[in-house]
Amino acid sequence: MLAKSKILCVVGALALAACSPSNSNDGGTDVGAWPSDIVSENGDIAFPEGFLDWPTLGAWSTADESGTANGMHQVYATPGTAAAYRETGEFPDGTVLVKEVRGAATASLSTGAASYATDKGVWFVMVKDAKGRFPDNTLWGDGWGWALFEAKDPSKQVATDYKKDCLECHIPAKDTDWIYIEAYPVLWKDGKPPIPKWLDGVKAAIDGETDDAPAAMSATDVEVERPTAFGVCSSCHSVEKGRNGIGPSLAGVFGRTAGSADGYNYSEEMKSSDAVWDATNLDKHLTDPKSVVPGNKMVPLFEGVVDANDRKAIIDYLESI
Ligand code: HEC
Ligand code: HEC
Repeated sequence: MLAKSKILCVVGALALAACSPSNSNDGGTDVGAWPSDIVSENGDIAFPEGFLDWPTLGAWSTADESGTANGMHQVYATPGTAAAYRETGEFPDGTVLVKEVRGAATASLSTGAASYATDKGVWFVMVKDAKGRFPDNTLWGDGWGWALFEAKDPSKQVATDYKKDCLECHIPAKDTDWIYIEAYPVLWKDGKPPIPKWLDGVKAAIDGETDDAPAAMSATDVEVERPTAFGVCSSCHSVEKGRNGIGPSLAGVFGRTAGSADGYNYSEEMKSSDAVWDATNLDKHLTDPKSVVPGNKMVPLFEGVVDANDRKAIIDYLESI
C-alpha cells in the first residue's frame, strides 16, 4: 500500500488526495486514479496486494444442494468507489474490484447456525477502463480489465481471454456495467435495494417485449434461424458445443439425457435425473422449470415461457442444433 500511495501522489493533481493519511472508505481518496501499480503498460494485471485493507462492497454466500454454505465471496473496491458510484451511477475510471472466494464453515452459535469464511481460494479482479486503453489485449474489453488469481500462486494471473473466461457469466448484469450491484448495499441510491436489472430483462423477454440476446452469446450463432423467444435463454445458455455459461450448452440437447453436457457443473438433481429431453419433456421444462427435474438450479433463475407457440419455436430450434 505504501508503494501504491507513492505512485498515486506522483500521478497527478487529481490523485493528490491519495497522499492524505486518512485513506478510509468514506470516498474521495484515491478513487479515479489509474492503478499503474497493478496494470502494466501493455495491460498485464498483477495481484492487487493490500486490497484486504480496502472497503468491501458486500458479500455473497454460496450453498450446496442441502442449503449449507460452502463458499463466501467478499467483494472489495478501491477506497471511495461506493460514494462515487452513488453520486454518478458509474464506476470511476481506474476502479479496482476484487472478489475473494473463500470456503465456508457453519457452526451452531448463540444466533443459530452461522456460517463464516475459511480458506482463501481464488481472486477475481476487475479494473475499470473507461477509455478502452488496451484494444489488442484479450484481458481487456467491455469497459474493464478482467483477471484471475489462484491461492496456490497469486503471482500468476491465469485468465487468458475475458470473453471466454468471464463475460458470459456476467451477461445477466450487463445493464449495470457487468456488476451484480444488487448485492452491494453501499452502492444503492437512497439505500433502496434495486430490483436486479437482469431479472427485468428475463421477465421482459418472457413477456415477448424484447429480444434480449446478448452479444457474447450471439457471437456463437449457428446457421439455423433462431426464434426471438430464444433470446431469454441466451443470457444463460450458449448453443455452441462445449461452451457452458450460467447454464449448460444447449447444443445437441434435444434427445440427450438430462445433466449430460460435457464439463458443466450440474446440480445433483439434474445429474441424477434420467429424463430425456424429447419434445414433451422440453415443453414441460420450459412451461415450468421445476416439473421434469424438481430442485434443479435453473428454477430460482427462470420462471418459464408462458406462450405455447414460443415454446414450440424454441423446441423446434433446439432440435435443429
Ligand atoms: C460461472 C460464472 C462466472 C464466471 C466464469 C465469472 N464470473 Fe464473476 N461473478 C459471477 C457471479 C454470478 C457473480 C456474483 C455472485 C457471486 O459471486 O456468486 C460474480 C461476481 C464477480 C465480481 C464481483 C463484482 C460483481 O460483478 O458483482 C467480480 C470482480 C468478478 N465476478 C470478476 C470476474 C472475472 C474477472 C472473471 C473471469 C476471470 C469472472 N468474474 C468469471 C459469475 C461468474
Ligand atoms: C437465468 C439463467 C437461465 C435461463 C434464462 C434459462 N436457463 Fe436453462 N438452465 C439454467 C441452469 C443453471 C441449468 C442447469 C440446471 C441444473 O444443473 O440443475 C439449466 C438447464 C437447462 C436444461 C437442461 C440441460 C441439460 O443438459 O440437461 C435445458 C433443456 C434448459 N435449461 C433450457 C432452457 C431454455 C430453452 C431456456 C429459455 C427458454 C432456458 N433454459 C433459460 C439456467 C437458465
